Amino acid sequence: MRIMVWGPTRLSGQVMVSAAKNAILPILAASMLSSGTVVIKKVPAIRDVHIMMALIQQMGLEVEHAEGILTIKGTPQNILPDYDLSRQIRASFLLMGPLLARCGQAKAFLPGGCAIGTRPVDLHLKGFEALGAAIQITGGCVTATAPRLQGNYVYLDFPSVGATENIMMAAALAQGTTYIENAALEPEVVDLAAFINSMGGRVSSAGSNVIRIEGVAGLGDTAYSPIPDRIEAGTYMVAAAASGGEVIINNVIPEHLKATTAKLLESGAQVKEGPDFIKVSRGQEIKPVYIKTLPYPGFPTDMQAQFMAYLCSAGGSSIITESVFENRFMHIGQLLRMGAQITTEGRTAVIRGVPQLSGATVKATDLRAGAALLIAAITAHGQTIIEDSEHIDRGYENIVYKLNRLGANIYHI
Ligand code: EPZ
Repeated sequence: MRIMVWGPTRLSGQVMVSAAKNAILPILAASMLSSGTVVIKKVPAIRDVHIMMALIQQMGLEVEHAEGILTIKGTPQNILPDYDLSRQIRASFLLMGPLLARCGQAKAFLPGGCAIGTRPVDLHLKGFEALGAAIQITGGCVTATAPRLQGNYVYLDFPSVGATENIMMAAALAQGTTYIENAALEPEVVDLAAFINSMGGRVSSAGSNVIRIEGVAGLGDTAYSPIPDRIEAGTYMVAAAASGGEVIINNVIPEHLKATTAKLLESGAQVKEGPDFIKVSRGQEIKPVYIKTLPYPGFPTDMQAQFMAYLCSAGGSSIITESVFENRFMHIGQLLRMGAQITTEGRTAVIRGVPQLSGATVKATDLRAGAALLIAAITAHGQTIIEDSEHIDRGYENIVYKLNRLGANIYHI
């Protein structure tokens, strides 16, 4: 798939943010914990969600999907996900916790490296072992077995989002109480806890670095609406500032965007927060900034590529350090093709601003890198073709349509 963009254009108007991909994916896995009927509302039509739905269907659950409303029921029968499906998204590893809790056993293919790093799962497995599971790894496949999980203390060496979520889901039906220490603080972790509690679970202090999960005998019905996607919102905020236009981003929780807002203000953009919307515009020159990506509430790694595309046209040199993933600079090579001036030293990139990028044929290497190229293409002079643009569709619902509505000259070709 390819996307063509003609630039430069100033974006203006309003855009509606969809529900959060990174909340829905663990929530879909957690729906397997329920013995009742689970309804999830406002589910965006994006590939990662479709793959996760196919995976839980393949586990034996009934999944109905009508106009963004998912209805899920049944009990998992199969404990090994389909290889071709599961290797397409790392989030498939989140099926392990619920399967272990419901079936006493779970299997998963070890996620190979992906475009942004090796992304091991050692912290997930450490958590399962702490809850009493026996772990076996053979032939690239990991098996966790535990007739009955026991609550325990789990210390995470790194506040991993996925490990926090996987352990929380397994602990939800364990015997006794589990404490996850040095837990991830991301809003999507808090949303997963709220979802589990809406089914009768007892998860407390999610959003702090010690999460308490009191195991219960079973979980029941729920109808749940996940939080808005803070990374989709942040992407449109940065696109608005980069284009020099004025955009209102609707359906946001401004609290979740503090780091992105702070850095946009530092760079000279205007940002006005409403109760559930944010207005972004830019009048004068883009000022260079220093950014270091960190776990929440620090500057999100998922916004790093987009912000770098914006800083390519700053009046001066910016520095970005990527401290969460060891290889999340794949977009730099593509930005250089558009005339950006960026050098890297390990996990640090120095971005020397240029007056204007110029259109080129580039390649999306991962989801957020693809979004960064869209931002660069909207600000660049001339035509840009983005190849492998299906990466972008994994996490941004109708992004070509939404940007078109904001005035971008952008088309799927
Ligand atoms: C989640 O991935 C998100 N994905 C990612 O978003 C996001 O970039 C990441 O959190 C960080 O915020 C979903 O929620 C589906 P981690 P996850 O476990 O859970 C290391 C996007 O663009 N680590 O917090 O995989 C790991 O190698 C995606 O929407 C271990 O060492 O992230 C990485 O360096 C990309 N051992 C760091 O922690 C483990 O057992 C962060 O990983 C687990 C992780």
